Amino acid sequence: MPDPAAPAAIVARDLVKRFGSFAAVDGVTFEVPQGSIFGFLGPNGAGKTTTIRMLLGLLQPTAGSALLLGYDVARETLAVRRQLGYMSQKFSLYRDLTVEENLDFYGRVYGLRRERLKRRKTYVLEMAGLEGRERQLTRDLAGGWKQRLALGCAILHEPALLFLDEPTAGVDPISRRAFWDLLYELAEAGATIFVTTHYMDEAERCRDLAFILDGRVIAQGSPHEIKRTKMRGQVLEVTCDNARAAMPILREMAAFDEVALYGSRVHLVAPDAADEIPAVRHRLEAEGLAVHAVDEVLPSLEDVFISQVRARINPVGELEAIA
Ligand SMILES: Nc1ncnc2c1ncn2[C@@H]1O[C@H](COP(=O)(O)OP(=O)(O)OP(=O)(O)O)[C@@H](O)[C@H]1O
Ligand SMILES: [Mg+2]
Repeated sequence: MPDPAAPAAIVARDLVKRFGSFAAVDGVTFEVPQGSIFGFLGPNGAGKTTTIRMLLGLLQPTAGSALLLGYDVARETLAVRRQLGYMSQKFSLYRDLTVEENLDFYGRVYGLRRERLKRRKTYVLEMAGLEGRERQLTRDLAGGWKQRLALGCAILHEPALLFLDEPTAGVDPISRRAFWDLLYELAEAGATIFVTTHYMDEAERCRDLAFILDGRVIAQGSPHEIKRTKMRGQVLEVTCDNARAAMPILREMAAFDEVALYGSRVHLVAPDAADEIPAVRHRLEAEGLAVHAVDEVLPSLEDVFISQVRARINPVGELEAIA
């Protein structure tokens, strides 16, 4: 659990990065408490990697500042660098080296002495479930193993603060879950984790989130707070005998901005969707469908983010009226 008395692990203040006249990051501010997992979400090109690179001191901000573990990144880079771990978006394992050779390589990069390297290698191999695969070539590892080895390389030197840029992209759900179990273990041991992801189930697992769009943070808080406060419109959940058959009928009503299938249920979104509850029930029953429930519900994170992105793409639409 984060210690409320400890200084924030990350403080980003009004970070801006312009490439020419284009602002890739346009005034980003947030704080991450120590020992927590912070999720950074946003569509492709939103500015996630650029923000991480500024936080790590790899890219100079056009404006703004960042503190990591209390150190000013711009002025005290070397002091803080030892305490940082980074798994980049296109993480760099050496494909032609074995698992153990990759660990040795990174251990040397971090300047670990022989005894410590040995101890840390044993820990990482066990943590990542890679015992017995030490001599396997990295290029022959399945995606989930590669990811865990890359995480292992990033934490060999026991960093207090870990940056993971889309660490589970393209990996199957079971491997993703195993990877997140490792992240929880690291956070419980006191590490702070900053992770970018496109997966909503992973976003749900973070203590706090920031959602970035076109270089700006448009929603910030715990997953629950974001669902409670950032939905643009009301969400109805329809449970009926045949959700698939209900979809075209609900679309035809033309009362909703969004009609989406959620497993065996349908979510409907509109500014005053709750007013439509009797009409929805009536219309589906008139078409011969047995309706079990039509309720206003808390949106899913996906509902929230789609509503936010849509409102940006079409800002003069009806949704803007409820902003
Ligand atoms: N060196 C650069 N020069 C010019 N533009 C850049 C540079 N680096 C990034 N950009 C642009 O800045 C924007 C943000 O890029 P960034 O890589 O931070 O996005 P991202 O949120 O990480 O996206 P993804 O989910 O695809 O990884 C993009 O439009 C990108 O093309
Ligand atoms: Mg990126």
